[in-house]
Amino acid sequence: MSDQTNRLRYFNILLDSIEQRNQEVTEAFGHHVHWGYWDSNSLADGSVEDFRQAAENLSVKMCEAAKITDNQRVLDVGCGFGGTIATINSRYKDMDLVGVNIDERQLARAREVVVPAATNKVKFVKADACKLPFENHSFDVVLAVECIFHFPSRELFFKEAKRVLKPGGYLAICDFTPADIVMPWIGMLDFVFNGLFPSTYSQNNLNLKNSVTLHDYEKLAEKTGYRVVHEHDITVNTLPTYPVSGRVMRKASPPGWDTEVDMFLTQTMEWFSRQGLYRYVIFSFEALS
Ligand SMILES: C[S@@+](CC[C@H](N)C(=O)[O-])C[C@H]1O[C@@H](n2cnc3c(N)ncnc32)[C@H](O)[C@@H]1O
Repeated sequence: MSDQTNRLRYFNILLDSIEQRNQEVTEAFGHHVHWGYWDSNSLADGSVEDFRQAAENLSVKMCEAAKITDNQRVLDVGCGFGGTIATINSRYKDMDLVGVNIDERQLARAREVVVPAATNKVKFVKADACKLPFENHSFDVVLAVECIFHFPSRELFFKEAKRVLKPGGYLAICDFTPADIVMPWIGMLDFVFNGLFPSTYSQNNLNLKNSVTLHDYEKLAEKTGYRVVHEHDITVNTLPTYPVSGRVMRKASPPGWDTEVDMFLTQTMEWFSRQGLYRYVIFSFEALS
């Protein structure tokens, strides 16, 4: 894969905005680049500060799902700007933390902003999620926070994570999963979006037809040697993300057709999520020996 293909359109916008010292984008997406989690939606106030805290909450939820404790070796695959590594670094001690990303520009920022705590080690490595440059059975936990849909294959990633995990270790991921009744329509939606907006659609590496349901994850876990430990539908808790992220991204994006398409695709996703047709789920799996 060329470096150009690894550059997602939304990350180009985020990196440009951060470089131009856009305060709002840096606050909202300069650390975590994922949806927020609110215990109750009535608590969301629509501000970027509130959104940043909610994004932090989601990373904490992921740590809980993966049962992270002190003194572990943790791999965060598709680590963005190192937001979840920073969360772990600030909450646990004696940790050996490794972040992996396919985009070197994001890793450069991660290395700049994540300062290892006194008893922790932090490293960021460029690699593809489906070809991890690590030894067998060398991690206690593998995380993939809101990124598995970008990877070349969920199955290959599950196998790679299993290879690098110690037996009994945990893999935790979060993903957007269509409800069963949507699945027959997914191929058609993908065809329509790809046909109508080929450029924006491919630049965001969206691949709706590769979406999988909750039940597919259960089957995938069984096939690749895991036991499902935790399956938590948090769609409702993530909904306040849409107005704030839509506002920030619209302001930060260059005017034009690609931006209109991005906004439309996100609004479509919001509509499906509000109808319960598209769910945001946190999973964790135990690697069987
Ligand atoms: C929505 S962002 C999530 C970033 C980060 N996990 C977070 O929560 O802040 C998706 C991430 O997946 C990364 N990514 C996409 N394809 C990848 C691949 N094949 N291998 C590793 N990382 C990949 C992107 O570069 C990006 O950092």
